[in-house]
Amino acid sequence: MATVLVKSGGEKAVAEWREAFQAVDPRFRVHWWEDPAVAPEAVDYVVVWEPKPGWLRTLPKLKVVFSSGAGVDHITCDPEWPRHLPLVRMGGDGTEQRMGEYIVWACLSLLREARTFARGQAEGKWLGRDVSRSAATCRVGILGLGNLGRRAAGMLQAIGFPVQGWSRSRKEVPGVRSFAGPEELPEFLAGTEILVCLLPSTPETAGLIDAGLLARLPRGAQVVNAGRGSHVVVPDLLAALDAGRLDGAVLDVFEQEPLPPESPLWAHPKVTVTPHVASLPGRPERARYVAAAIADFEAGRPLPNLYDPVRGY
Ligand code: NDP
Ligand code: OXD
Repeated sequence: MATVLVKSGGEKAVAEWREAFQAVDPRFRVHWWEDPAVAPEAVDYVVVWEPKPGWLRTLPKLKVVFSSGAGVDHITCDPEWPRHLPLVRMGGDGTEQRMGEYIVWACLSLLREARTFARGQAEGKWLGRDVSRSAATCRVGILGLGNLGRRAAGMLQAIGFPVQGWSRSRKEVPGVRSFAGPEELPEFLAGTEILVCLLPSTPETAGLIDAGLLARLPRGAQVVNAGRGSHVVVPDLLAALDAGRLDGAVLDVFEQEPLPPESPLWAHPKVTVTPHVASLPGRPERARYVAAAIADFEAGRPLPNLYDPVRGY
C-alpha cells in the first residue's frame, strides 16, 4: 500500500492525517516529511504546503504531488519542483463551500457596513441609518470563475446579489454574465460594485488590481481579495480608499503572511483583514479527497484538479 509523506499543519498534525487516511484504507502508511525512518525511495505520494525548496526532487519514486491547498504557487515557486510529475490542487465540496461562505460573509459585511458598526460599538456610538441597502442593488463581479468562483457565484445569487464573472475562457454559469479575456475586463469592471478576486497566482494575474483597474470600477465600489496577495497593489488600493474612490475592502491574503505589524492595512478604517482563513477544510476531508484521487490514479483513471503547466494554474 502507498507511503504518503505529509508537510502541512506541522508535525503535530501528522497523527490526524494518518488517522484520516487510515479511516479510508488502514494500509496507508503516513509519515511526517522529515521522518528519518522513511527512505526517500519508499515515498509514493506527498501532501504538502510550502515544501522546502529542492526537497521534492530528492524522492526518486514519487508519483504525484498533492497540494494541501487549492493554490499551488507555494510549490511551483521552487525552481526545482519535479515538473514531470502530476500536481493536484486541493478541491472538493468542502473547499468550495467554505470559500463560498467566506465570500458571502465578506460581501454582506461590505453591503451592510459591518466595519462602520464595529467601530461605532467600540466607541459606544449609535450610528443609526434611515435606509439600508439590499443585495439586489449591488452587483458583485468575480475575477476567476473556476471551482471556487462558480460556487461563490451561486451562493451570492441565492441571497439576491446580481453576479457577473471574468475568466480567461467564456463560461456558462446559470444567471451569471460571463466576461472573458483582457479585452472584456473594462466592461466587466464598469458594472461591478463589489469586486471579488478568486484568481490563481500567475505572472499574468500579478499586480492586476492596481490603480488603473481600480479607476475603472464605479465610485464607491468595494474589493474582496481571497485569491493571493500578489494580485493587489496595496499602495494603489490604499490611495483609492483614502481618496474616497473606494468604500471598503476585505482582504484574506497578502504578499507577506503573516501580515507584518507595521502594515497600514491593519488599522485602516475601511479595511477588514482576515488571516488567510477563507477556505480551510478539515484534515479528514482533505485526506479523503487525496485518498480518492490516489485510488483513481492507481486504477488508471484521470486525476482531479490537475495543475496545467501551460496555463500556470
Ligand atoms: P481554478 O483553477 O478552478 O479557477 C481559476 C479561475 O481563474 C479560472 O476561471 C480561470 O479562467 C481564471 N483565470 C486564471 N488566470 C486568468 C487570467 N490571466 N485572466 C482571466 N482569468 C484567469 O482555481 P480555484 O477556483 O480552485 O482557486 C482559485 C484560487 O483561490 C487559488 O489558486 C488560490 O490562489 C485561491 N485560494 C485561496 C484560499 C484562501 O483561503 N484564501 C483557499 C483556496 C484557494 P479559466 O476558467 O478560463 O481557465
Ligand atoms: C490556498 C488554500 O490555496 O488555503 O490558499 O487552500
